[in-house]
Amino acid sequence: MTMLDWSEPNPASAAMPRALPHDPLAADATGLGTIDRGAARVRVDDKAMINARADVNQLLPLKYRWAWEKYLAGCNNHWMPTEVSMQADIALWKSKDGLTEDERRMVKRNLGFFAASESLVANNVVLAIYRHLTNPECRQYLLRQSFEEAVHTHTFQYIVESLSLDEGELFNMYREVPSITDKAAWALAHTQSLDDPDFRTGTPEADRRFLRDLVAFYVVFEGMWFYTGFAQILSLGRRNKMVGIAEQYQYILRDESIHLNFGIDVINQIKAENPHLWTPAFQAEVAGMIRDAAELEAAYGRDTMPRGFLGLNAALCEEYMHFIANRRSAQLGLPPVFGEADNPFPWMSEAMDLKKEKNFFETRVIEYQNGGALSWE
Ligand SMILES: [Fe+2]
Ligand SMILES: [Fe+2]
Repeated sequence: MTMLDWSEPNPASAAMPRALPHDPLAADATGLGTIDRGAARVRVDDKAMINARADVNQLLPLKYRWAWEKYLAGCNNHWMPTEVSMQADIALWKSKDGLTEDERRMVKRNLGFFAASESLVANNVVLAIYRHLTNPECRQYLLRQSFEEAVHTHTFQYIVESLSLDEGELFNMYREVPSITDKAAWALAHTQSLDDPDFRTGTPEADRRFLRDLVAFYVVFEGMWFYTGFAQILSLGRRNKMVGIAEQYQYILRDESIHLNFGIDVINQIKAENPHLWTPAFQAEVAGMIRDAAELEAAYGRDTMPRGFLGLNAALCEEYMHFIANRRSAQLGLPPVFGEADNPFPWMSEAMDLKKEKNFFETRVIEYQNGGALSWE
């Protein structure tokens, strides 16, 4: 990043004074403001993650290639839940002894957790993050992510419909099952904090509020809680149970791993551009958030798997959460929040690498409607 040189203002900026950084009133953070006719052209150095002075309506010149790369990766991973056959799942779900009661309880609570969570994450992206992230290439990724969250919500609609599940029971679990409500409420508090229409970034206090929301949703929700959820279903899939849902979860996992990594890059870039925000006290606060989130997840694990079953139980999930929590801390440049924790589910890394599955794309029927198929009559 080139440092700004105030000693030699160029003629354009002398004629058209630019707003000072961190002056939220001077910058049009949303991109909805009045067009600044004759303003100086966007320079890469004026682009910034938050509190940018550059026009947010101009994608080019690119500053953050990592954000653009993630947008392209998301587009390359396009999928729809309806491409996955649910026949085997339907047969197993309807058969009397295809699944144990414990397995059924876990599947239902897992689906219930995800069903509403996808909407919570999407709402946070669209209504809280997008507004305050003042960079067009990051916004381009957020638009792609928003669509992917819609596809994920669609997945739970498709599962409910295929298995004839009680939609009210499933979609209300985040309000009716305390271990799920506790997680949703914990994360919601952070997005609610940005919900005030007068909220603006631009002060250290406000910028940290924004960072807390990024940590709560990208690192904790998508980067920690979703991972035990994936492990639960993929563990069943490994035993050839609920293979349709397991395949859909693999696609979701592939999307979510990009969401998580995007969030980590966003947080680290904001830290790099605003080192004054990342104080020892704030680092300790973020570590505390990760620790609290792991505890909430342990409670959810005990609730969804009171007895456990082959290859999976609440204690293993808690261990996995500690392992994941330490990894997320390292990604944010923080020391481990838990003592030495091993990965009890080494097969999860294989599940994440879909390229290993040679037949993966061959099993898909891709026939998206193109322009020629549209009828204008
Ligand atoms: Fe999602
Ligand atoms: Fe996501």
